[in-house]
Amino acid sequence: MKEQLENMRANAEKEIAQAGSTQQLEALRVKYLGKKGELTTVLRGMGSLSTEERPVIGQMANAIREGLEQRLEQAVQELSAKEKEEKLRNEFIDITMPGKRKIIGHKHPLSIVVDEIEEVFLGMGYEIAEGPEIEYTYYNFDALNIPETHPARDLQDTFYINDKIILRTQTSPVQVRVMQNRKPPIKIICPGKVYRSDAVDATHSPVFHQIEGLVVDKGVTMGDLKGSLEVFVKAVFGEDVKIRLRPHHFPFTEPSAEVDVSCFICGGDGCRVCKGEGWIEILGAGMVHPKVLERCGIDPEVYTGFAFGLGVERIAMIRFAIEDMRLLYENDYRFLKQF
Ligand code: DAH
Repeated sequence: MKEQLENMRANAEKEIAQAGSTQQLEALRVKYLGKKGELTTVLRGMGSLSTEERPVIGQMANAIREGLEQRLEQAVQELSAKEKEEKLRNEFIDITMPGKRKIIGHKHPLSIVVDEIEEVFLGMGYEIAEGPEIEYTYYNFDALNIPETHPARDLQDTFYINDKIILRTQTSPVQVRVMQNRKPPIKIICPGKVYRSDAVDATHSPVFHQIEGLVVDKGVTMGDLKGSLEVFVKAVFGEDVKIRLRPHHFPFTEPSAEVDVSCFICGGDGCRVCKGEGWIEILGAGMVHPKVLERCGIDPEVYTGFAFGLGVERIAMIRFAIEDMRLLYENDYRFLKQF
């Protein structure tokens, strides 16, 4: 039995010395000194010993237990210190290392233009109005003097949800909604998305953005329209630009005009941006048609008004010399970061 105990001690000491972690040491403690451990197993054989032998073996077993406990304890201390050190080393943070710079986004060129235009008109006392993108044909067409048989419906062919409901082709229906809901003086702009069933190319998209403007009050004239638009174009294209009104036709304004801005690149001499014209068309405008006022419950004998509508993409493309409209929707960071 002595021999058995000696062997066990020798094995245990060897294994303790070789253990590589505190976890392994704990397993060894259970293996040798645990309730069902090897020492207990050996001592179970004590019953067969003589009365003289028993205390000797007992003493020896105690000494072995104490010896192993001490070794285990010491090994645990050593290894846990090592483990701690290793953990600290692994978790070390080099605070002198340069940080990772976060890429901060910025406004999309279309948002830049919309915000700028809003700012100009808010500065002139306009309010911002909104209307639905899913619109009744009545507001989008009929109320604006575009009856079912009017050719203008073809030019603005759109997505029909049913006979009476469409995706709006223009922001002009917001004019009608605003005039029906409040009394003059009215001074609003309405930025928003519009839809047309156009194929995608460098200058067309089935979804694009417009800004509508409407002013209705007593004594509003075409001169007011021109003055307001001048303030607007100077703010967007620079103090030196001029505007030009060309007679045109829109069903909901009379008289109507297309408005050009003198080329802000060449100053009117002709260049690539204005395609040699010296002028660039930027919007449609006119005096609100008396029939439209009447339909909205506003007496055209008392009140007059002007309206205008512009394409945001067009303005952004001119302003930033962007040649292909698709660039505005592709969200290519290399493009967007230039603005
Ligand atoms: N709604 C017109 C379009 O999409 C633009 C327009 C022209 C709006 C004249 C107006 C206006 O308010 O007076 O082509």
